[in-house]
Amino acid sequence: MDSNVLCKCREDSEEQKKYDEIRNIIDLYRGKEGCLIQVLHAAQKIYGYLPLELQRFIADALNIPFSEVSGVVSFYSFFSVKPRGEHTIRVCLGTACYVRGGKKLVEHIQKTLDVELGGTTSDGKFTFEVARCIGACGLAPAIMIDDVVYKQMTPTKLDSLLAKFYERGGEK
Ligand code: FES
Repeated sequence: MDSNVLCKCREDSEEQKKYDEIRNIIDLYRGKEGCLIQVLHAAQKIYGYLPLELQRFIADALNIPFSEVSGVVSFYSFFSVKPRGEHTIRVCLGTACYVRGGKKLVEHIQKTLDVELGGTTSDGKFTFEVARCIGACGLAPAIMIDDVVYKQMTPTKLDSLLAKFYERGGEK
Protein backbone atom coordinates (compact mmCIF):
# COMPACT_ATOMS: atom_id res chain seq x y z
CA MET A 1 0.00 0.00 0.00
CA ASP A 2 1.20 3.53 -0.71
CA SER A 3 2.68 4.84 2.55
CA ASN A 4 1.47 8.35 1.70
CA VAL A 5 -2.09 7.09 1.94
CA LEU A 6 -1.42 5.73 5.42
CA CYS A 7 0.23 8.98 6.36
CA LYS A 8 -2.72 11.06 5.17
CA CYS A 9 -5.12 8.77 7.06
CA ARG A 10 -3.19 9.29 10.25
CA GLU A 11 -3.19 13.05 9.73
CA ASP A 12 -6.94 13.00 9.13
CA SER A 13 -7.65 11.02 12.26
CA GLU A 14 -5.38 13.28 14.38
CA GLU A 15 -7.26 16.25 12.98
CA GLN A 16 -10.58 14.55 13.72
CA LYS A 17 -9.48 13.85 17.28
CA LYS A 18 -8.70 17.53 17.82
CA TYR A 19 -12.05 18.60 16.39
CA ASP A 20 -13.84 16.05 18.62
CA GLU A 21 -12.03 17.41 21.64
CA ILE A 22 -12.98 20.97 20.70
CA ARG A 23 -16.61 19.90 20.20
CA ASN A 24 -16.63 18.47 23.75
CA ILE A 25 -15.29 21.77 25.10
CA ILE A 26 -17.99 23.66 23.20
CA ASP A 27 -20.66 21.42 24.77
CA LEU A 28 -19.15 22.13 28.17
CA TYR A 29 -19.19 25.92 27.83
CA ARG A 30 -22.29 26.41 25.69
CA GLY A 31 -24.61 29.07 27.15
CA LYS A 32 -22.19 30.06 29.92
CA GLU A 33 -20.92 33.61 30.40
CA GLY A 34 -17.77 34.34 28.37
CA CYS A 35 -18.33 31.12 26.50
CA LEU A 36 -16.77 32.20 23.19
CA ILE A 37 -13.50 33.39 24.72
CA GLN A 38 -13.20 30.20 26.80
CA VAL A 39 -13.86 28.03 23.77
CA LEU A 40 -11.34 29.95 21.65
CA HIS A 41 -8.67 29.63 24.33
CA ALA A 42 -9.24 25.90 24.64
CA ALA A 43 -9.38 25.45 20.86
CA GLN A 44 -6.08 27.28 20.42
CA LYS A 45 -4.50 25.11 23.08
CA ILE A 46 -5.72 21.93 21.41
CA TYR A 47 -5.17 22.90 17.78
CA GLY A 48 -2.19 25.23 18.26
CA TYR A 49 -3.81 28.15 16.41
CA LEU A 50 -7.19 29.22 15.04
CA PRO A 51 -7.40 28.80 11.27
CA LEU A 52 -10.49 30.08 9.47
CA GLU A 53 -12.00 26.58 9.07
CA LEU A 54 -11.81 26.09 12.82
CA GLN A 55 -13.36 29.51 13.48
CA ARG A 56 -16.21 28.54 11.14
CA PHE A 57 -16.64 25.24 12.95
CA ILE A 58 -16.85 27.05 16.31
CA ALA A 59 -19.33 29.61 14.95
CA ASP A 60 -21.57 26.81 13.59
CA ALA A 61 -21.33 24.74 16.76
CA LEU A 62 -22.21 27.73 18.95
CA ASN A 63 -24.82 28.88 16.49
CA ILE A 64 -23.40 32.39 16.28
CA PRO A 65 -22.27 34.43 13.25
CA PHE A 66 -18.79 33.74 11.90
CA SER A 67 -18.10 37.50 12.03
CA GLU A 68 -18.53 37.42 15.81
CA VAL A 69 -15.91 34.69 16.17
CA SER A 70 -13.42 36.26 13.75
CA GLY A 71 -13.98 39.67 15.39
CA VAL A 72 -12.97 38.30 18.79
CA VAL A 73 -10.00 36.39 17.33
CA SER A 74 -8.62 39.48 15.59
CA PHE A 75 -9.26 41.77 18.57
CA TYR A 76 -7.14 39.86 21.10
CA SER A 77 -3.44 39.56 20.36
CA PHE A 78 -3.13 36.25 22.19
CA PHE A 79 -5.22 34.51 19.54
CA SER A 80 -3.28 33.45 16.48
CA VAL A 81 -4.53 32.53 13.02
CA LYS A 82 -1.13 31.19 11.99
CA PRO A 83 0.61 28.09 13.34
CA ARG A 84 2.69 28.90 16.40
CA GLY A 85 5.97 27.43 17.56
CA GLU A 86 6.28 24.91 20.34
CA HIS A 87 7.61 27.75 22.56
CA THR A 88 7.10 31.52 22.50
CA ILE A 89 10.05 33.85 23.07
CA ARG A 90 9.20 37.42 23.99
CA VAL A 91 11.90 40.04 24.28
CA CYS A 92 10.91 42.97 26.46
CA LEU A 93 11.22 46.30 24.71
CA GLY A 94 9.84 48.40 27.54
CA THR A 95 11.98 51.47 28.35
CA ALA A 96 14.31 49.86 30.91
CA CYS A 97 14.98 46.82 28.75
CA TYR A 98 15.28 48.83 25.57
CA VAL A 99 18.03 51.07 26.96
CA ARG A 100 19.88 48.13 28.52
CA GLY A 101 20.16 46.01 25.42
CA GLY A 102 16.71 44.67 24.51
CA LYS A 103 17.13 45.73 20.91
CA LYS A 104 20.42 43.86 20.68
CA LEU A 105 18.63 40.72 21.94
CA VAL A 106 15.98 41.15 19.25
CA GLU A 107 18.64 41.35 16.54
CA HIS A 108 20.50 38.40 18.04
CA ILE A 109 17.42 36.19 18.00
CA GLN A 110 16.54 37.22 14.45
CA LYS A 111 20.03 36.29 13.31
CA THR A 112 20.55 33.16 15.41
CA LEU A 113 17.16 31.59 14.82
CA ASP A 114 16.64 33.09 11.37
CA VAL A 115 13.18 34.32 12.28
CA GLU A 116 11.33 37.58 11.73
CA LEU A 117 9.51 39.40 14.48
CA GLY A 118 6.05 37.86 14.78
CA GLY A 119 7.19 34.78 12.88
CA THR A 120 7.91 31.16 13.74
CA THR A 121 11.19 29.33 13.14
CA SER A 122 11.14 26.94 10.19
CA ASP A 123 11.52 23.95 12.56
CA GLY A 124 8.41 25.07 14.46
CA LYS A 125 10.34 25.37 17.72
CA PHE A 126 9.91 29.07 18.54
CA THR A 127 7.49 31.89 17.80
CA PHE A 128 9.23 35.22 18.28
CA GLU A 129 7.49 38.31 19.68
CA VAL A 130 8.25 41.43 21.69
CA ALA A 131 6.61 42.59 24.90
CA ARG A 132 6.21 45.92 26.71
CA CYS A 133 7.51 45.50 30.26
CA ILE A 134 7.23 42.10 31.87
CA GLY A 135 7.76 43.36 35.41
CA ALA A 136 11.51 42.82 35.76
CA CYS A 137 12.75 46.36 35.01
CA GLY A 138 15.24 46.30 37.91
CA LEU A 139 17.07 43.41 36.25
CA ALA A 140 16.74 44.48 32.63
CA PRO A 141 17.01 43.41 29.93
CA ALA A 142 14.51 40.62 30.39
CA ILE A 143 12.93 38.07 28.11
CA MET A 144 10.22 35.48 28.54
CA ILE A 145 10.10 31.99 27.14
CA ASP A 146 6.57 30.69 27.53
CA ASP A 147 5.65 31.70 31.11
CA VAL A 148 9.16 32.01 32.53
CA VAL A 149 10.99 35.35 32.86
CA TYR A 150 14.77 35.39 32.34
CA LYS A 151 16.53 38.48 33.67
CA GLN A 152 19.79 40.31 32.89
CA MET A 153 19.91 38.57 29.56
CA THR A 154 22.86 38.84 27.20
CA PRO A 155 23.35 37.35 23.74
CA THR A 156 25.76 34.78 25.24
CA LYS A 157 23.33 33.75 28.00
CA LEU A 158 20.60 33.61 25.42
CA ASP A 159 22.62 31.23 23.25
CA SER A 160 23.08 28.75 26.08
CA LEU A 161 19.42 29.08 27.07
CA LEU A 162 18.27 28.34 23.52
CA ALA A 163 20.70 25.42 23.32
CA LYS A 164 19.02 23.91 26.38
CA PHE A 165 15.64 24.12 24.67
CA TYR A 166 17.06 22.34 21.64
CA GLU A 167 18.89 19.70 23.72
CA ARG A 168 16.19 18.77 26.17
CA GLY A 169 13.06 20.43 24.87
CA GLY A 170 13.15 22.88 27.78
CA GLU A 171 15.29 24.35 30.51
CA LYS A 172 14.57 21.71 33.17
S1 FES B 1 10.85 47.35 30.78
FE1 FES B 1 11.43 45.29 30.52
S2 FES B 1 10.78 44.38 32.34
FE2 FES B 1 10.09 46.41 32.53
